[in-house]
Amino acid sequence: MIREVITYPNKLLREKSKDVVKFDEELHTLLDDMYETMIDQNGVGLAAIQVAVPLNALIINLPNEEDIQDKEDLIEAINPIITHKDGEQIFMEGCLSVPGFNEEVKRAQHIIVEYYDRYGNKKVMESEDFLAVAWQHEMEHLSGHLFIENLSIIKRKKFEKEWKKKLKNK
Ligand code: CO
Repeated sequence: MIREVITYPNKLLREKSKDVVKFDEELHTLLDDMYETMIDQNGVGLAAIQVAVPLNALIINLPNEEDIQDKEDLIEAINPIITHKDGEQIFMEGCLSVPGFNEEVKRAQHIIVEYYDRYGNKKVMESEDFLAVAWQHEMEHLSGHLFIENLSIIKRKKFEKEWKKKLKNK
């Protein structure tokens, strides 16, 4: 089922998500719904809080070399933690909760993440480049933050002005 994606400045997006304790049917439904919702909105990643569920769960599905978003590449991560990060990269980011806005953000180039799959099996993933960006972006949602908080003061002010205008014209 497609769920509603909440958008900035909805206060729920500032909430810190809690760890999942039950790897049950309800979690599986949430993850399935998150996937449907993300695909429907042409996204490449989604955190549970974006569909108003404050749980530490996220999904990532980047396009492959042929630019196809293959479900076989779908990552479902429960209670993820970054255990290592290094390097630096600047990447043009966007977010389904800040639709229509893209800006460059600086993040670690290489990370190692520990997480659980939907059945509660522990996983470790090493990632770099775009995938590392996606992990860091989605995990930021779980801690109650958005990518726009990483912008310089000038860029943030410009964003707020444009966003206010956009909300008014809705
Ligand atoms: Co986002």
